[in-house]
Formats: sequence, C-alpha cells, structure tokens
Amino acid sequence: MHFDDTKNLNKNSSASLSHIPSIHSTTSKKNKTTSVNFSKREHPKFIGYMGCKTKLLDPIIQALNDVYQGGAICDLFSGSGTLAGALGNQCQMIANDIQHYSTILSDFYLNAWRYPSIPSAEKIIHETEEIVKKNLNCLCKKFGLKVDYTNINSAEQLLKIEEKQRLLIHESFDHEYHLFLKYFSGTWWSAEQCVWIDAIRAVVDQYQHQPCFDVIFCALLFAITYANPGIGHRYSFYREPSSDIAFKEMIACRKRSIADLFIKKYNQILIWLPPHPSSHKNIITTLDYYECLQTFKGGVVYADPPYSASQYSNSYHILETLVRYDYPAIQKKKDGRFTKARYRQNKHRSPFALKSQVKTAFQKLFFGVLNNGSDLVLSYSNTGLLPIDELIHLARQILNTACIEVRELKHTHSAMGFNGGKPKKVKEYLILSRQR
Ligand SMILES: C[S@@+](CC[C@H](N)C(=O)[O-])C[C@H]1O[C@@H](n2cnc3c(N)ncnc32)[C@H](O)[C@@H]1O
Repeated sequence: MHFDDTKNLNKNSSASLSHIPSIHSTTSKKNKTTSVNFSKREHPKFIGYMGCKTKLLDPIIQALNDVYQGGAICDLFSGSGTLAGALGNQCQMIANDIQHYSTILSDFYLNAWRYPSIPSAEKIIHETEEIVKKNLNCLCKKFGLKVDYTNINSAEQLLKIEEKQRLLIHESFDHEYHLFLKYFSGTWWSAEQCVWIDAIRAVVDQYQHQPCFDVIFCALLFAITYANPGIGHRYSFYREPSSDIAFKEMIACRKRSIADLFIKKYNQILIWLPPHPSSHKNIITTLDYYECLQTFKGGVVYADPPYSASQYSNSYHILETLVRYDYPAIQKKKDGRFTKARYRQNKHRSPFALKSQVKTAFQKLFFGVLNNGSDLVLSYSNTGLLPIDELIHLARQILNTACIEVRELKHTHSAMGFNGGKPKKVKEYLILSRQR
C-alpha cells in the first residue's frame, strides 16, 4: 500500500477525514513493506479525560495502519489509555505518560485478563466492608460526623455540613489509609464516601502483586469519577451549592454509594476481560516524553501532547494522589490557607501547556523521533498553544519533508462541561511522518 493511499479509509469513521492539498500535504511514493490492519476494539471507560481521543480512534488507527512498518507502537502521552484500550493485543505497545494514574489505565487495557481465580466484586467489597466498619466508627465517635444526606433540604444546611467535613484536613488519624478522609472530605466527596474510597484503596494494595490489581483500581477510578458532582470530571475546583441545580446534583452524588458504583463497573469489566494474557511484552512507563523517546527504537510513535494551557497535573491531581497514595504536601496560598482545589505541591508542569516553552517542546519531540528512527503520528488541533501552521512548518524543518502528510479531521470537541456546556468547534489534525 502506498503511504498516500486514501482508498482504504475506514468508511465507518466517526470523524470525517480529509487530506489537505498541496500546501500542507507532501506524500511519499515509497512502498510499505509491512502490511497490517489494526482494528478498533471496544473497551470500557473509567474516567472523563480532557483531550481524550475516543471519538477520533478511527482516523488515528487508519493513520497508524498507513505508517506502520513493523515494531512496537509507543503511545507517548497515553493519558486515559484510549489507544491501548482500542488496540489491545494487536502488537507490542509502550504506553507512557508523566502522570501515574495513566499507568493504571494503560496496564489494565494492555495486560489485564480473566484468570480463573480472579476475585469477585462481592469478595472485594466484603474485604472493604471490614475496613469501612472500623473507620466509620472512628468518624462518628471521634468527630461526631454521621451525615444523612436525605435529611438535607437547603443549600445552607449542605454548606454547613460540608464545611464541617472539610475541617478534617487539620485532624490526625490513628488508622492507616485515611488520605481521602483527611484531605478530601466535604469537597468532591462526603466524608463517608472518602472512608469507602480509602478502604477500597487499602484492598487494592492487598492485591498489588496479583494480576487483578489494575482491574480493582480501574473500577475504583470509575467509582470516584461518577460520585463526583464536579463539572467535567476535573478536579480544579469542587462544586458548591450555588444554584438550585447545583444543590440537587450535589445531593444526588452524595447519596451515591461508592460500593455500588464499584460493583457495577467491576462486573462489567469481568465480562469484557480477555480470557488469556497478552502475548506481547507491553511496557508501561511514567517518563518525560523526551526521555521515553530516547529509550524507544523503530516502530511508530503516536504523540498526543496537551494542546491548551491547562495543566493535567492540576485537572487530575486527585487521580494522581489516589494512585500514589503518598499523603502529599498541599499547596498553600500566601495567607497560609490551603488552595481551594487542595493541589499537591511540586506538580509536574508540562512544557506543551506553557506558551513560552511549547515550540521548544515540539522541536525536542521531532528531534527525538528523528534520532530514534521511528515513524510518527501526531495529533494536534487548531486551538493549540502552538499555531497549527507553525507546527507543520517545524515538522517539515526537522523531519524528512518528503514523507510528511497532514490530515485534517472534522471533530467537535466536548467542552467537558465548560463553555456553558456547549460543544466547541475544533479542527483536529494528524501529522504523519515516515522515516524508514
Ligand atoms: C491530550 S492528553 C492525552 C490523551 C490521550 N491520548 C487519551 O486519549 O486519553 C496529553 C497527556 O500528556 C501528558 N503529558 C504532559 N506533559 C508530558 C510530558 N512532559 N511527558 C509525558 N507526558 C506528558 C499529560 O499527563 C496528558 O495525559
């Protein structure tokens, strides 16, 4: 198949795909030697994620098929693990992201399987209940906190009880696994929900050397995501009952049972899991992208870096804390109070989300790909911090211009609950480069 062959495009593609003519598109006449046809696998979702590529999987996989000449696929910024979820066991994959929660998702998609003795949801919840009983007891006895959200009828009442729960951040606890209870009670979750989250997290650790570790973890990620009343599943601020609708949504989420959400997802996962382990030696890393490029050789790099000035380490800091469970120091304001989002101190700041560094970050990305001799599929949009024309120009300057192709995808981005809930029109691009 020729590199510029567009006839094989997936007819079912959810996003329409068009090639940009001469100004942006230079195509190679070189024949591909390896014939592959990666296809899209349906897979369960666990978290809402900014910039997640679920809706663009068809054209992305088509682009991978067009450049692929053998070797592993390296998803350099794997985020919520969408590509690993979609490709599964079709070739060896390297999934990399600087955030630790990403490793849990990618490892689940690439390596989890339904082995005969995999524990049932009931078993895990039974083990969790033992821990919850003890810790809820402490919450009632020591802090007098037993909240029944069915009896809360006004925003004032709700605010008062949430504020009381938030004060737990200043308390000390005798039992292990109290991170969420201390740090996040009365923010994204109630104190009681936090006790459950901590307890399932304790059980996750009991299974850390077993293949179901990521399976339990992913169901927990799902449960905390869908009990959070915050807008857009992000954690940059928590919701407050500032309107009637916010009040109702908060109460509805506070009444959700972490255990029920967990059981529902865990059982769905068990049905979906493949019956055999992966036949590939997949590798999951939390390296900076440039370091990862230095360890990768040949194959294809799929790069989906951040587009906007939002730092993922801010938006998803709680997922990071759930996974690392390291009782981090919390950022404080100048007046000594904690930041409202209760951010971790010393968070990663991505150069792709900094206007002053984004160009250099892309230069390093292109040089990294050039030096390791891999082919590249790069996702970016016309709303990115680096203007798309500048990005294409940079790719041409650094990579072999004869083998670069740019595809424009028509895609409507989810505003993730922001922008007044209205979807934003965004043009998405794929830049394809073949070096081999
Ligand atoms: C647009 S998202 C990727 C979304 C992913 N393709 C998906 O479908 O879920 C960008 C990712 O880049 C990661 N990231 C940002 N800076 C990074 C760096 N310097 N090295 C590695 N990963 C980085 C972020 O943590 C984030 O998960």
